[in-house]
Amino acid sequence: PRYFALLPAAGVGARMAANGPKQYLTVGGKPMLRHAVDAFRASALVTHTYVVVSPDDGVIDSVLPSNLDGVTVLRVGGATRMDSVLNGLRALTGVLDQYDLVMVHDAARPGLTPALIAKLIDGVGDDPAGGLLAMPVVDTIKRSAPATDGSRTSAATVPRDGLWAAQTPQMFSYGLLLRALGSAPDANAITDDASAVEMLGHAPRLIEGHPRNLKVTLPADIRIAEMYLANKED
Ligand code: C5P
Repeated sequence: PRYFALLPAAGVGARMAANGPKQYLTVGGKPMLRHAVDAFRASALVTHTYVVVSPDDGVIDSVLPSNLDGVTVLRVGGATRMDSVLNGLRALTGVLDQYDLVMVHDAARPGLTPALIAKLIDGVGDDPAGGLLAMPVVDTIKRSAPATDGSRTSAATVPRDGLWAAQTPQMFSYGLLLRALGSAPDANAITDDASAVEMLGHAPRLIEGHPRNLKVTLPADIRIAEMYLANKED
């Protein structure tokens, strides 16, 4: 099979409260998005990488020059992450076929490595349900409930056993992912691609990822990501 990467990078980074979209923040000397793209470019297993940005993006040309090997920018970003991925997939009609495997990866995860890409591909094998990198949950998880004074109480403890936190890349056949996202009920409720595939009744494989593949969400996450980027072994 052929393997492709699709990176949604059309977000505005509202939670980061920084200047500009977070995928363009500098981490370890280059824009976050560039780290993720370079991991796929460095993988011998990946045929081509597609990056979805918003139609009015004015920064992407400096981050990914048009002469960069193995990368194509699609200016078809949408209102939600799911829309951006779906628009990107639709833009590749006739370029990818049903059985091509697509790895969807968040531009906000700069710590991805070719070794993790290979681990995902190897772990999913020929499972038609696809799969994703994820980490077993280490915290004790609480179900919150509102208190009368407006604060929150811990109403219950959710058994941690069997809970995993999803990372990306998440890999599915082009045909399955297009069908799953195309039929998902509510774009805002879909925070990853695997959830849309699960709604079709499939059970994607969980492949253990790595802490270095964290999603940069809060300002302090940049320091953590830089620590991992400085040490390829961590
Ligand atoms: O905001 P969050 O961290 O969940 O975003 C995950 C990824 O989805 C980021 O790479 C972001 O750029 C992308 N995204 C997108 N289109 C949107 C919203 C988010 O491509 N409308």
